[in-house]
Amino acid sequence: MADTTHRFLPYQGVRYAQSETLQRSREFYQYMDKRRTLRLFSDEPVPKEVIENIIMTASSAPSGAHKQPWTFCVVSDPDIKTQIREAAEKEEYVNYHGRMSEEWLEDLEPFGTDWHKPFLETAPYLIVVFKKSYDIEGEEKRKNYYVNESVGIAAGFLLAAIHHAGLAALTHTPSPMNFLQKILNRPDNERPFLLIPVGYPAEAATVPDIRRKGPEEVTVWFEAAS
Ligand SMILES: Cc1cc2nc3c(=O)[nH]c(=O)nc-3n(C[C@H](O)[C@H](O)[C@H](O)COP(=O)(O)O)c2cc1C
Repeated sequence: MADTTHRFLPYQGVRYAQSETLQRSREFYQYMDKRRTLRLFSDEPVPKEVIENIIMTASSAPSGAHKQPWTFCVVSDPDIKTQIREAAEKEEYVNYHGRMSEEWLEDLEPFGTDWHKPFLETAPYLIVVFKKSYDIEGEEKRKNYYVNESVGIAAGFLLAAIHHAGLAALTHTPSPMNFLQKILNRPDNERPFLLIPVGYPAEAATVPDIRRKGPEEVTVWFEAAS
């Protein structure tokens, strides 16, 4: 039966010829494959509008029942960045001195990371992604659905938009991250999800020499027998 109570619009997706679809998919893969996590940032300024566009790209992500259960806090204030660095380094010191397992520390060795997080002050912007397990409408709590999945996808869009703009980012998780909720004075229905410094790379920045899994390692096909 046709739904007459809710409005629907014609779908306005773009349709390409098959050869163009193939070329676009290949080019996008090759472009995205160049994305790297950066840990050495320049303090070169980034226009605010770039960050606005990146965030609205992230916020265009799909979400359970279209609840868009996220808030993006954008920090460029040097005093707040210092507070975040100090609190993050406090947690990371404990992480690197006993809270992380031997196996975890061994897995982190190729990245050369430790508890020092200077990029939290150097990068011009810190985007702190919060997830909202529920919304507050007046006196009422309204549940959100598939919050981790939704915010994870939005964070993926965010990282892709950052890369597309020619900037670099670090997906950072100085856990536990509740200090971010306190420093940024966020309400009780918001929990920190990721801390993402964004900016240009420092001069002569390097990245770990890692290998990505190939298609046969990450894909299982179930095709009709020919
Ligand atoms: C959920 C998540 C948490 C991460 N947390 C940290 C972190 O706290 N510190 C860090 O240096 N890198 C962190 N990373 C970055 C990974 O180390 C990085 O993505 C991985 O080594 C692959 O490198 P690439 O992003 O350059 O492909 C995190 C990545 C993800 C997806």
